[in-house]
Amino acid sequence: MTEKELNALLNDMSLEEKINQMVQLPGQIYASSAAVTGNIENNDVNHTIFYQAGSTLGIYGAEQLKKIQKEYMAKQPHHIPLLFMLDVIHGYETAFPCPLGLGASFDPESVKMCAEIAAKEAAVGGVHVTFSPMADLVRDARWGRVMESTGEDPYLNGKMAAAMVEGFQGNTRAEKGTVSSCIKHFAAYGAATAGLDYTNVELSEHTLREYYLGAYEKGIHAGCDMVMTSFNTWNGIPSTGNPWLMKQILRNEMGFDGVLISDWGAVGEMVNHGFCEDRKEAAEKALRAGVDIDMCSDCYADYLADLVREGVVEEKVIDEAVMRILKLKNKLGLFENPYRDADEEKEKTVLLCEEHRQFARKMVQKSVVLLKNERMEEGCLLPLDPTKKIAFIGPYIEGEDMRSSWVVTGSASNTISIRQAAKEVFFENQIRFAKGCTLLNNDTVLNGAQYHSDSWMEDNMRLEKEARQAAAWADIVVLCLGEHNHQSGEASSRTSITIPDIQQKLIASIYEVNQKIVTVLFNGRPLELDTVEAYSGAIVEAWMPGTEGGHGILDILTGACTPSAKLTMSFPYTVGQEPMSYNSYSSGRPKQTEGRADFTTRYLDCSNDPRYPFGYGLSYTRFSITEPELNQTRMGFNDQIIAQVRVKNVGERKGTEVIQLYIQDIAASCVRPVRELKGFCRVELEAGEERTVTFTITEPMLRFHCPDGSYKSESGRFRLWIGNSSVDGNAKEFWLEKGNRMTE
Ligand code: NOJ
Repeated sequence: MTEKELNALLNDMSLEEKINQMVQLPGQIYASSAAVTGNIENNDVNHTIFYQAGSTLGIYGAEQLKKIQKEYMAKQPHHIPLLFMLDVIHGYETAFPCPLGLGASFDPESVKMCAEIAAKEAAVGGVHVTFSPMADLVRDARWGRVMESTGEDPYLNGKMAAAMVEGFQGNTRAEKGTVSSCIKHFAAYGAATAGLDYTNVELSEHTLREYYLGAYEKGIHAGCDMVMTSFNTWNGIPSTGNPWLMKQILRNEMGFDGVLISDWGAVGEMVNHGFCEDRKEAAEKALRAGVDIDMCSDCYADYLADLVREGVVEEKVIDEAVMRILKLKNKLGLFENPYRDADEEKEKTVLLCEEHRQFARKMVQKSVVLLKNERMEEGCLLPLDPTKKIAFIGPYIEGEDMRSSWVVTGSASNTISIRQAAKEVFFENQIRFAKGCTLLNNDTVLNGAQYHSDSWMEDNMRLEKEARQAAAWADIVVLCLGEHNHQSGEASSRTSITIPDIQQKLIASIYEVNQKIVTVLFNGRPLELDTVEAYSGAIVEAWMPGTEGGHGILDILTGACTPSAKLTMSFPYTVGQEPMSYNSYSSGRPKQTEGRADFTTRYLDCSNDPRYPFGYGLSYTRFSITEPELNQTRMGFNDQIIAQVRVKNVGERKGTEVIQLYIQDIAASCVRPVRELKGFCRVELEAGEERTVTFTITEPMLRFHCPDGSYKSESGRFRLWIGNSSVDGNAKEFWLEKGNRMTE
């Protein structure tokens, strides 16, 4: 449709019809065939809203969505198509590793490809919009949703958010196999106080701007079609009702001109927050903040028309919001083809096709982080010696869903288990399998459910006995342990970030009969690893690896592929250190590295440092990285410094190292982090091969939010490191000289 036609359409719509475009109904209402054939009263929605709501969410599948669209459009007064939205977070039918794992690849190009594949699958399934990426910065492992983030660093998160938006959306939405992308949750949802989901966020505006907003902005500048508000309050104001955040920051400063949607029920929840007297006021405040679509709280449906008639809000504001929604439908080509890419036949060939599976397998290889691989008398446990007998033990060898709580489509039965993958690699008489224990302790509370088994105790005694027998038979034990996939994700905050007790008991018990233990961890957050550390010679962090989990993990265990991933969230020694991140500030009394530490910034009972830092991850080969060489140590504002290192693979096998550039602004008008990631690249090297890695340092990389409200760099002394983690690398200093600022 042309702009003129869209305007004509808008002008022809009644106030109610326009407002209904701003209403999103839950998909179940449409999914029940009874509803589509007209008996919708049972679902507590009236006919008008049912055939006029502008969008729905949570349903998928070409046949179903086409049927719904057809019947809906026949009754929609202007035959405006319904928009189908879905949480396609880390894959559709083909599930990739959860975003925390994807981030660990430090490979935005591959992450973009994952989004491209997910979009292809979702599009043939009839989906138009995905509620992804989640660009929330995370520093607190207690928050269950860290699993949906790419981690604690604003620079890396920005790269990943932009890559995902580009992957989902393609160049234009006219291309087949694309979907619109919705960045969420604006803003600072990841800073939930004490990691408790949905609660308030306490951050200064400086911290908000400096760390939390950047990744959303990168996604917006990559062209995302939609943004979702967050559930939390910031500075005492719920995001969904915050005009400063949504209009000043999002629209004016970041230049976002797409559709803004609330999170589920968040408009109505402003009453619970104590920010609105009632749902009517909530509708008014959300509208004033600039929210275009009310996701499932019905406040817009119930009150916006009255608010316009009473003169409280202007119809012009409604028109602007509706125009944004119509433009999105138009961009997606829905007026010409309301079914878009939905295609039952293509679903059969595209979903979970071999090509997608192969890519998912590669992503597992790139996201698995080798945390530990101790040298024992006979060498390291990993990669596994192909001549040894191996017992695969633990609840994650099969039967548990390793796709995370955020895969709403597909089936866990399509996932390659550890057992299945191991059988493909080893001779039958060389391997044994034993579950060892249940995944959870009895009566563990999960989000929306409670795990309970009457025979829990007896089952576990039997399972442990079988596992000890297998372990005693084996040369090496591979223990597959972790969180339940519903122990991380939305509404899955935890005060204890260990693997369940029953699994900790298992590892201690296995150690009694076999000390050669490789532990593979399945989880969606950094964990406290005391027990795992104490009993494991090697530790492999596999996250929630998705559909090709078994294959990808076996590729790493056997050495068919050398691990290369790096942590994007610090792993603490203890939950008491949370929240934590590598890019912290120095206090006035930094902890001494030598001598007494009294009256310095330290815990009396624990290190200040993480157990495993940001950027950390081992390989099966070794790399040497020379001191950085700078072509000059002084640069003007329009100038640049070339920093180079030589990276050499000094081990015996091919491998990939993630080379990371960190910078510190040594003294500034406000304190600056001890280090900040400013660049990275993956370098693949054959054994013995070496290569020069170059980073170009320019003035914009040194900018920050200054106390006077400006965003600029300040001349002075800087330090840089180029290494393979946030605690590695030789420091070099350089100076940004006073001079003319580059005009942007
Ligand atoms: C609530 C979640 O916070 C959000 O991330 C998700 O996209 C919506 N529900 C829709 O499912």
